[in-house]
Amino acid sequence: MRFDVLTLFPDIFDGYLGQSLLNKAIERDLVKVAVHDMRRWSTDKHQKVDDRPYGGGPGMVLRVEPVIESVEEIQQTDDGPGRVVMLTPQGRKLNQKVIEELAQERRLLLLCGRYEGFDQRVTDILQPDEISIGDFVLNGGEVAAMVLIDSMIRLVRGVLGDESSAVDDSFSEGNRLLEFAQYTRPREYRGHAVPEVLLGGNHEEIARWRCEQSYLKTRERRSDLLDE
Ligand code: ADE
Repeated sequence: MRFDVLTLFPDIFDGYLGQSLLNKAIERDLVKVAVHDMRRWSTDKHQKVDDRPYGGGPGMVLRVEPVIESVEEIQQTDDGPGRVVMLTPQGRKLNQKVIEELAQERRLLLLCGRYEGFDQRVTDILQPDEISIGDFVLNGGEVAAMVLIDSMIRLVRGVLGDESSAVDDSFSEGNRLLEFAQYTRPREYRGHAVPEVLLGGNHEEIARWRCEQSYLKTRERRSDLLDE
């Protein structure tokens, strides 16, 4: 799986790309992430890529030329053109189903907006898949792009140590329940004890207890998942 991130703030990704699971996946060639600074495609001597909106109003708008030209140039390098995704609060809402759909792609180009967003002609010309990570407004698409990459790499074969882990994730195709509670040592802390059933070693009983805990938690917090 390959990600090409187009951003005005490439440094934001440095720490994140070194993060253990992703870093290991990159080192093992399971995932490739290329971060591109859209200012490289600016024709302005100050490397500006934004401008005031026609019609007036606050804020700045990302110009159409550097965005289109960066996408076109990047699409010509390795691995085929890929699917263009624009991170924007106006997009369809991200959930595990969308993640699973996007994970079918070999390559994604992630467009991270800033300011008041992109010139409308970026959308008209590229027809990107517009994705929002929720009904709130971030300062830019970078954090949203990291959310997308982070949730997608879990689905790349070989990235997680245990192949079954992602299949069992909440919200995945085969699981509509929230996670059960987990415990590790010590057996008791400030009067809070680990449930007895987990200490007994009866695997059938433990599985039943966990299943029941998942169901009760889901009913209490997210009954909408049970309706599905
Ligand atoms: N950019 C700004 N806000 C966003 C959001 N909620 N989702 C995706 N991209 C964004």
